[in-house]
Amino acid sequence: MDSNSFRGIMGAFATGVTVVTTCVDGLYHGFTANAVSSVSLEPPLLLVCADKGGIAHGQLTRAESFGVSILSAEQEEVSTLFASRAEPGTEGIRDLPFRVGETGAPLLDGALAWLECRSHSRAEGGDHTIFFGEAVDGGSDAEQDPLLFFRGGYRFVSPLG
Ligand SMILES: Cc1cc2nc3c(=O)[nH]c(=O)nc-3n(C[C@H](O)[C@H](O)[C@H](O)COP(=O)(O)O)c2cc1C
Repeated sequence: MDSNSFRGIMGAFATGVTVVTTCVDGLYHGFTANAVSSVSLEPPLLLVCADKGGIAHGQLTRAESFGVSILSAEQEEVSTLFASRAEPGTEGIRDLPFRVGETGAPLLDGALAWLECRSHSRAEGGDHTIFFGEAVDGGSDAEQDPLLFFRGGYRFVSPLG
């Protein structure tokens, strides 16, 4: 199967949207990712797939921990912002408010939910690498709705019926 067909079909698998953040040698970075999944409950593992050609790939390879901010329906602009390539910087994460967790991982303020992960392991994934993280802390805001990604565009949830 060619990559366009594959991408088109997998686009029917609606997902949430996250920003995965790192701090390596004092340099902050974040990128938009929807190839994110929970993996295991004991221990609590998740995975993030990162394109080998992206800056995030190099950062995740070196990072001892990373943050996963699950975006709310109000954060479409945040998703678009972090879907553009940017060099890591010392000043912060694209001028957005953030905090640093117990592992040193940066986490965006205002997300629907967040997890702080210790880097666990990696697996080969074609033109991506699969980065596994063990969640050490997290939280969620029950008041907010999620941002969704479906067939190449953003969507919002609407209740059935
Ligand atoms: C909704 C959405 C989801 C994305 N998911 C991923 C992903 O899971 N993995 C990935 O490597 N890139 C993903 N991207 C693309 C990256 O966000 C984009 O290539 C970004 O420029 C990478 O920045 P960097 O090179 O600074 O790391 C996604 C983009 C969008 C808009």
